[in-house]
Amino acid sequence: SAGKGHGGGDLRFTPVAPNTDDALTIPKGYRSSVVVRWGDPVLPDAPAFDFEDQSAEAQAKQFGYNCDYVTLLPMGRDRALLWVNHEYTDESLMFRDYTGGAEATEEQIQIALAAHGGSVVEIERAGHTGEWKLVTEGRRRYNRRITAQTPMAFSGPAAGSDLLRTAADPKGRKPVGMLNNCSGGTTPWGTVLTAEENIDQYFVNGDKVPAAQKPYIDRYTITTGTPEDNRRFDRVEERFDLAKHPNEANRFGWVVEIDPFDPDSTPVKRTALGRFKHEAANTTLARDGRVVVYMGDDSRFEYIYKFVSKDRYRHGNDRHNRSLLDEGTLYVAKFTGDSPDSELDGSGKLPSDGEFDGSGEWIPLVSGNRSYVDGMSADEVLVYTRVAADKVGATKMDRPEDIERNPVTGGVYVALTNNTNRTPAQVNEANPRPSNKHGHVLEIVERRDDAGSKTFAWSIPLVCGDPKDAATYFAGFDKSKVSPISCPDNLTFDKDGNLWISTDGNELGSNDGLFVMPVRGKDRGHLRQFLTVPVGAETCGPLVTSDQRSVFVAVQHPGETDGASPDKPSSHWPDGDQPRPSVAVVWHGQGRKIGA
Ligand code: FEO
Ligand code: CA
Ligand code: CA
Ligand code: CA
Repeated sequence: SAGKGHGGGDLRFTPVAPNTDDALTIPKGYRSSVVVRWGDPVLPDAPAFDFEDQSAEAQAKQFGYNCDYVTLLPMGRDRALLWVNHEYTDESLMFRDYTGGAEATEEQIQIALAAHGGSVVEIERAGHTGEWKLVTEGRRRYNRRITAQTPMAFSGPAAGSDLLRTAADPKGRKPVGMLNNCSGGTTPWGTVLTAEENIDQYFVNGDKVPAAQKPYIDRYTITTGTPEDNRRFDRVEERFDLAKHPNEANRFGWVVEIDPFDPDSTPVKRTALGRFKHEAANTTLARDGRVVVYMGDDSRFEYIYKFVSKDRYRHGNDRHNRSLLDEGTLYVAKFTGDSPDSELDGSGKLPSDGEFDGSGEWIPLVSGNRSYVDGMSADEVLVYTRVAADKVGATKMDRPEDIERNPVTGGVYVALTNNTNRTPAQVNEANPRPSNKHGHVLEIVERRDDAGSKTFAWSIPLVCGDPKDAATYFAGFDKSKVSPISCPDNLTFDKDGNLWISTDGNELGSNDGLFVMPVRGKDRGHLRQFLTVPVGAETCGPLVTSDQRSVFVAVQHPGETDGASPDKPSSHWPDGDQPRPSVAVVWHGQGRKIGA
């Protein structure tokens, strides 16, 4: 069996106990600080944040709301760029007396548009431990805000398609802004991939589109009418009214590539990667050097996808590499179990072969201008990818969130967050639990360990929940020694190949958190909680730096609980005041390796 350095552990910290504290709770011997908060200045001329006196002009220069994906791009040992997604806004926590988009001021709506998107900020190491701080002085030449109003470009086979054309952009090549950027990935050539997820909530009048378009609006659950909880972006930008501009919805739901080292660069929506509720987009290389992107569509009964580029990655050839995501094949996953259906009774009892496992295939959907789906053109497959995947019999999963390849073991791990709607009749070996409240983690092992393969083996190393619940599984590890875990969302790996899992929506009654689990050796399945986040928050963006001295987490939506408002906050994190979504860093007080 593999030891340390091979996904096999070397973790000695004392786990954090489940709790409901309004705090970032970390293990004994560790320290934490806030790196950057909602409203902190990003551009050098940004004003200081004032909760009681916000403006759209200020917000467009300040750190946005609800931080999600976090990646760090080194600039030497002690300096780096930090990229952070700003997934969505919670106006009822941002503004006093907010009663919905219909009655919001136009300034509030403009603030919300500016609080979406992403940020690039320079950070620097503080001292000799793992602490990092926001650079607040000097030129900060790379610092940048990208918002729902930033000019962007489409590239790839669907760029210019009729389905992407609008009155404001008759050529279908220049979308404006990005929305609901959840998680993401970082390419081998140093750009950021940021994934547009729940884009259905930003429009109005989805029921007033042309009849031929209506089934697609429905398949993407896009808002109909003008519900009270809609942000009503249409009140300041008419494009969000689908009765007037029905194709505008098709211009969101993509993976966007951004060069953080070029603040003047135009973000690019890569149409070859398909359109759905993209959770993340993590890259790896096939054995022959082609780029592979793993992607999940985070809704109940949705699919797992991968893209394989046509050409190979060439180290150092940026110009070449930056077109790799425009040409290639988009696949969707089909999972087949190897145990009889009669052994999948939802009790949590493993099948008689001892594992939820089996084989799978990647079904091609589209390659450039060639569609593999009957009755759909290549453009239609790329813009209405969910409909294409329905037609080829892909496997409907329990909310596929982050998918990432373990750089040490080669296994591809998938977080399946939950699916309380799955009935006993809908259970299959890859989604073995009916009414799946707590989710599971699935491992794909590509044939010959080649990410470019068209077939794979798979198994489920982690069935989440309270370890006392018989319907949980921790890769066979002694369940009296593991931490409870619910609703796995984002994944990452440390240099030793340990799997780090953050959660969103703990159904066990405690706060969300970050966990780590060795995947090989005697500690395989020994899941331990590393931190918990404050009341109402989810844990996003976990990142263990390559020197293994720092862990970054995005604390998203602290204080987002039923009925909370600025007059009745349920969280005061991080400053004892109104809650502010923030990125935090955790390190060992003596500078030891994370987890030691
Ligand atoms: Fe934005 Fe699926 O989490
Ligand atoms: Ca089996
Ligand atoms: Ca997520
Ligand atoms: Ca990840």
